Amino acid sequence: MMDSNSDPPFHEAYKILFDKTEKQELGNVDFEFEVVEECEVPVIDLSRLEETDEVAREECKFQIARASQEWGFFQVVKHGISSDIFKRLRCEQEKVFKQPFEKKTKEHKFLNFSAGSYRWGSPTATRIQQLSWSEAFHIPLSDILPSTPSNPLCSTIEQFASTVSSLAQTLADILAEKMGHKSKFFKENCLANTCYLRLNRYPPCPVASGIHGLMPHTDSDFLTILYQDQVGGLQLVKDGKWIAVKPNPDALIINIGDLFQAWSNGVYKSVEHRVMTNPKLERFSMAYFFCPSNETVIESCREPCIYRKFSFREYRQQVRDDVQNLGSKIGLPRFLISEGT
Ligand code: SIN
Ligand code: FE2
Repeated sequence: MMDSNSDPPFHEAYKILFDKTEKQELGNVDFEFEVVEECEVPVIDLSRLEETDEVAREECKFQIARASQEWGFFQVVKHGISSDIFKRLRCEQEKVFKQPFEKKTKEHKFLNFSAGSYRWGSPTATRIQQLSWSEAFHIPLSDILPSTPSNPLCSTIEQFASTVSSLAQTLADILAEKMGHKSKFFKENCLANTCYLRLNRYPPCPVASGIHGLMPHTDSDFLTILYQDQVGGLQLVKDGKWIAVKPNPDALIINIGDLFQAWSNGVYKSVEHRVMTNPKLERFSMAYFFCPSNETVIESCREPCIYRKFSFREYRQQVRDDVQNLGSKIGLPRFLISEGT
């Protein structure tokens, strides 16, 4: 655990913009990241789901399921969400992050500044405490619906959330269908008010030395839909190696989360990913997390089950406890039946 006495208040750390001593200190330590190849994650044209030809529709569903098994990640194009919404969001997102520190960290009606695990401004602190060189707003969609029309960020988010949630439902239903389940599970359990958004900003980081924009992690939801700008920095693990995702301006990135891996009995993969820093450019992204209610019980849909069943509440609590007690998330391995837990 970090020593809270030597931990400057978030406000302080945020204001220190990097000092020379730190650069020298860090310069002597050998913890450069390995060179990582850029690679195109499968790109799937979702307009094919609308075709009259059943073979084309099935082929598209097959690609979604295969990418979820082999990569745990894929990109979708022609997804039906207007590029205009993304442009507006990007603009509103920038405005909200550019507010003075005092203002943006204050309680907003629906924007919660996530001061806990993100910190930028002091490379040593960020590295030693294993934090992320970024800042984020956490937005429970239950708070934003219905929108406040006078607030442009709020109404843009509301529009985005309603289109992106129907995309998430469609993808989840396809993934379930490909496992032989035509159930209403996702419609019944992943509701507008159980999902949330996160707005991320990654400021330029002057030190290329063991500092992540976002620490390696898997997502704790069913699936995540990510909109990123063109700066790049997202990396994922494929066949035991980190690879960089090449930004595609027309694509949304989809990744499988822990809950889908558990529900599919390990067929769909929740893959570790991270964000690298950029020395010169700031980066923005926005993630939509497709989550069930806390009471929802996640049970593997195939036998023999490799994970014991658990509620989403229990999962979140376990993750929180692990992060607090051990400093990192253990995640699904905790729920493996062979572990006897
Ligand atoms: C995330 O993993 O939650 C965000 C990734 C990104 O900003 O690209
Ligand atoms: Fe993530």
